[in-house]
Amino acid sequence: MAEPSSNSPRLPLPDGLVPEEVVVRTEKRWFMIMAAMLVVMMAVIVATGITGALHPSSNVEVIDPTTLHLQGEFIESNLGTAFEPDGSVTVRIIAEQYEFVPQCLQVPVGTPVKFRITSADVVHGFLLPDTNVNTMVVPGFVSEVRTRFSKQGDFAMPCHEFCGLGHHAMWAHVRVVPKERLGNPTSLARVTCATQ
Ligand code: CUA
Repeated sequence: MAEPSSNSPRLPLPDGLVPEEVVVRTEKRWFMIMAAMLVVMMAVIVATGITGALHPSSNVEVIDPTTLHLQGEFIESNLGTAFEPDGSVTVRIIAEQYEFVPQCLQVPVGTPVKFRITSADVVHGFLLPDTNVNTMVVPGFVSEVRTRFSKQGDFAMPCHEFCGLGHHAMWAHVRVVPKERLGNPTSLARVTCATQ
């Protein structure tokens, strides 16, 4: 017989049947460890969700993706950044193979911003790196994400759901600028980079 190796268990395993009280004790310990892990993971999800203002990936608002260009909120003249009476802004975007419309957006710094985005064809993704903005864009639904940009700058906005052969080229830009740059807050005109 070979010598027991150095990593063999300190206590020899019992021969034959393991006594029931040992089984019960061991299972109780594993159950407690597993329950503790679940509690910790739930706490992490809740804490990061609250501190990072994260949202569920989509809400349940429905829309007909086949008539976006004909009627309703997402007609072409209503896309882009719009001022609300309370001083916040709403940005409306369509995602389609393989572009975001408008392709470049301007939003004010230090102001509540609400993105409303929907898809005209397949599932796309809408992500602004280093912010809480990260949502799937599903045809038939309106995804809404709220945020506030604390400093000026340019964000590259990649589509992060594989949506077809042109997926890798589906990028847009969000430009965070001083509020004055966006013009008259009472204007009903929609703002994009092209209108500046
Ligand atoms: Cu759109 Cu990937």
